[in-house]
Amino acid sequence: MEKINAVITGIGGYVPEDVLTNEDICKMVDTTDEWIMTRVGIKERRILKGEGRGTSYMGIRAVNQLLEKTKVNPEEIEVVIVASTTADYRFPMTASIIAYQTGCKNAFTFDMQGACAGFLYALETGANYIRTGRYKKVIVVAGDKMTSITNYEDRTTCPLFGDGCGAVLLEPTTEELGVMDVILRVDGAGFPHLIMKAGGSAYPSSHETVDHREHFVYQDGRTVFKYAVTYMADAAAEIAERNHLTKDDITWIVPHQANLRIIDATAKRLGVPMDKVMVNIQKYGNTSAGTIPLCLWEWEDKLKKGDNLILAAFGAGFTWGSVYLKWGYDGKKA
Ligand code: UT7
Repeated sequence: MEKINAVITGIGGYVPEDVLTNEDICKMVDTTDEWIMTRVGIKERRILKGEGRGTSYMGIRAVNQLLEKTKVNPEEIEVVIVASTTADYRFPMTASIIAYQTGCKNAFTFDMQGACAGFLYALETGANYIRTGRYKKVIVVAGDKMTSITNYEDRTTCPLFGDGCGAVLLEPTTEELGVMDVILRVDGAGFPHLIMKAGGSAYPSSHETVDHREHFVYQDGRTVFKYAVTYMADAAAEIAERNHLTKDDITWIVPHQANLRIIDATAKRLGVPMDKVMVNIQKYGNTSAGTIPLCLWEWEDKLKKGDNLILAAFGAGFTWGSVYLKWGYDGKKA
């Protein structure tokens, strides 16, 4: 029997219209456009406004676009996986809301939480459903409404984050295409360095937790930077090496967009020039699980069947990893 692999056969994305510029941030906290640009590389980010709009609002739009572009009937979708740290509610799951609103009524669904590496975690999980031979159409949605957990009184974190969501369709292939190799790692010892301290079962919401502003992202930036820069580059280098990919074999690096300096270090480690690296941090900031699918979405028209893509991410947990993807089709699906 021929070996079945999972390949991405379409991509959808959504970023909100409202833009929050560095100039806007400078009016909220003591910072400058120069600091944000030189230390992080962000000029502006998109923010989702509107009462009651959570991550599902963006996920629904990304999935609807994906279904339109691929001309797939939503009733054919068998699994919907959502990678997000900013679920609409503690329960029920966001994936069930997205599936319901997009007409994926024959799918089973679940949420995953791999923070900024969430897309890589969900992609490998979705790919494994396809590889079993039992499932033919799996949607992976990844994204976050990071502004819902951003403290606009904290200058060390508020310039970093934005909102956005991507969605990909996974289908079986017997060609040499798709999710070729995966490295996924976790080190729970990293948990205190990047965390939302309250609102979970360890520290449920209370007046005190609200007063102490513990329902926002807390990040020890320097520590996270140190691990991110090493682990993301290591994972990308390891996956390239073990698949015998030289710098000339790599068509694109698709890095998580947390800091341009981390992206730069990853590219340097692989010896790949920056014109082969997908970068959109300057306009979207860090959308957590959304960054990698949003890059693929934006670059879709430039991608060709057989292109070698190295995806790499690092996030809270700590979670990190790299995926070697052989792209499945030419150019943009209408
Ligand atoms: O996506 C999930 C994973 N997350 C990441 O990968 C993020 C990793 N971390 C980073 O990208 C960086 O650590 C940050 C962008 C968060 C911070 O950059 P940094 O170069 O590590 O800055 P720092 O925290 O070492 O702070 C340097 C200085 C400090 O002042 P002193 O102590 O040297 O006087 C900060 O108080 O910059 C100061 N600072 C700011 N100054 C102006 C911190 N934030 C700001 C700000 N504007 N917004």
